[in-house]
Amino acid sequence: MEVVKGEVVSFQHVDKVYHSGTVALSQFDLSIADGEFISFLGPSGCGKSTALRMVAGLGEATNGRVKVFNQSPKDVIKHSNDIAYVFQEANLLPWRTVLDNVLLPLEIRGINKEKRKECAVEVLEMVGLKDYLHAYPRQLSGGMKMRVSIARALAAKPKLLLMDEPFAALDEMTRQTLQMDLLQIW
Ligand SMILES: Nc1ncnc2c1ncn2[C@@H]1O[C@H](COP(=O)(O)OP(=O)(O)OP(=O)(O)O)[C@@H](O)[C@H]1O
Ligand SMILES: [Mg+2]
Repeated sequence: MEVVKGEVVSFQHVDKVYHSGTVALSQFDLSIADGEFISFLGPSGCGKSTALRMVAGLGEATNGRVKVFNQSPKDVIKHSNDIAYVFQEANLLPWRTVLDNVLLPLEIRGINKEKRKECAVEVLEMVGLKDYLHAYPRQLSGGMKMRVSIARALAAKPKLLLMDEPFAALDEMTRQTLQMDLLQIW
């Protein structure tokens, strides 16, 4: 396999055929370099989520090879916090405050208490929620919940941030604001 310097994600001749027989990807090639911001555009059902999930180690290629940081995605996930994934829904724990939701993955990773608080507050400031650290998800708007979800993904300082239509459930104006903010954060 050819190794390209500074390559973060690579798909080489990837096929993905689901058990149902659906061909979601066929001979898919892609190379993403360090520092790039890439969007997948295409009609519904063309395989965007399938490809994204494979980068996160959620689903194997039927043929071909997917590499992240020149390793298998599953190994990257097992040994580091380098990949973060933001889903379409914010998926916050309703019984935890904003701060505690962002702290959760850091707790699971065993990061020390002071350090994780510092990281969580930093990313919540970054997404414009520093005044809502102690609010509960039910007290937030849809856009604010997505901001918490993004903060939670950023808290462990991933090298690669994957997002699958993270703003799809929001209204047009909120979506545009968050898209601009995301570029700013990036
Ligand atoms: N778990 C699964 N089992 C079987 N078929 C699947 C599965 N997940 C996706 N597919 C099929 O694979 C194809 C690609 O789906 P995928 O979710 O990747 O599309 P997409 O481009 O993300 O679409 P959308 O824009 O609607 O989100 C579709 O035909 C879909 O029905
Ligand atoms: Mg999709």
